[in-house]
Amino acid sequence: MRKKHPKDEFMWRWELKDVGLSSRWRIVDKLVQAGIVRLAYKSRQYQEYILTDYELVKQAVLNYFKGKGLEVEGKAIIPETATKYANPEYLSITPPEDFLDVVEGYEDLKWLLKLAVLNPGIHFIFYGPPGIGKSIILLELERLPGAYYVTAGEVSKAGLLDVIYDLKPRFILIDELDKIKSPKELTFIYELASTGRVKEVKAVKSGRYREIVIACNIFASANKIDHFPSEFRDRFWIIEMQQYDIEQARRITVNYLVKREGVPLSIATTIASKLVEEKKLPSVRKAVMLWKLIQPIYVEKKKEEDVAKAIDRAIKILEKYKSLKHARKALEQYTNYR
Ligand SMILES: Nc1ncnc2c1ncn2[C@@H]1O[C@H](COP(=O)(O)OP(=O)(O)OP(=O)(O)O)[C@@H](O)[C@H]1O
Ligand SMILES: [Mg+2]
Repeated sequence: MRKKHPKDEFMWRWELKDVGLSSRWRIVDKLVQAGIVRLAYKSRQYQEYILTDYELVKQAVLNYFKGKGLEVEGKAIIPETATKYANPEYLSITPPEDFLDVVEGYEDLKWLLKLAVLNPGIHFIFYGPPGIGKSIILLELERLPGAYYVTAGEVSKAGLLDVIYDLKPRFILIDELDKIKSPKELTFIYELASTGRVKEVKAVKSGRYREIVIACNIFASANKIDHFPSEFRDRFWIIEMQQYDIEQARRITVNYLVKREGVPLSIATTIASKLVEEKKLPSVRKAVMLWKLIQPIYVEKKKEEDVAKAIDRAIKILEKYKSLKHARKALEQYTNYR
């Protein structure tokens, strides 16, 4: 059936604005999803659609603007709640059984995070000195369905936007967020954190833009947050994590080496006491690296006294070349070093 154009009877192509839809064009996508409008032609400037059933479309549009959601013949084809988000499949997720077990300590924080992942719209920045488990938390979150992890220094704004449009992630994990220096780069994260919405105007003149709303939680890490504007910080729960003291670092090192690296308890204890305790270096990261350095000797000799000797020797060399001093200094740079 051909409808007569209201302005020009020889016109065969109607534009959205002819039927008052210009400002709410997103309904067309929904009509396509519902199967009552078909995309016939697409170019960079135009998309042409064919209505498969004029009356059904008319009813659906009228109902839509009456606030009834997208209904056809009284039946909700796409309920409004589901269409609000482009990633409804991730609205309800189940974390793995052993979620966050790899993170030592932080029992209270883990409780909070297990709750936080159940609903979209809750955002966190983990903030503090190096080596205190910020990244390991993000990497655990990466195991959740619909999670996407990036290191801020390695990804461009355009790259991250593409990820958002293409993958529609539920969990956006941005490690080292403070590596993004320009406030301009942050604006879309503001938007995302406030409304889950992202809008990208490519060329204002041609009016080309893309827009998406996703159910999401943003989790980020940073060594510094003071340079973020307060309105940016206001959109996140800022979790300030402290430098480990010697005892915490010793305990985490032993547990980490035994559980994650399969190191015998006695060797893990030796590394922790010789490096962390005696040398007063509260760095789990450095302790893990020391184990990795020594591991070939353990594999070859298997004797604990040989391993202990090798640990002593390595520490001596690192001390001679001031490596331990630099490591300690790097941690001390952070004011909350205890
Ligand atoms: N609480 C912890 N539980 C398990 N592993 C930990 C913990 N804290 C530190 N580690 C280990 O120490 C190393 C450094 O931790 P991580 O990479 O998470 O530090 P970070 O806080 O992200 O530091 P940076 O600011 O330098 O990126 C990792 O190998 C990690 O597994
Ligand atoms: Mg990190």
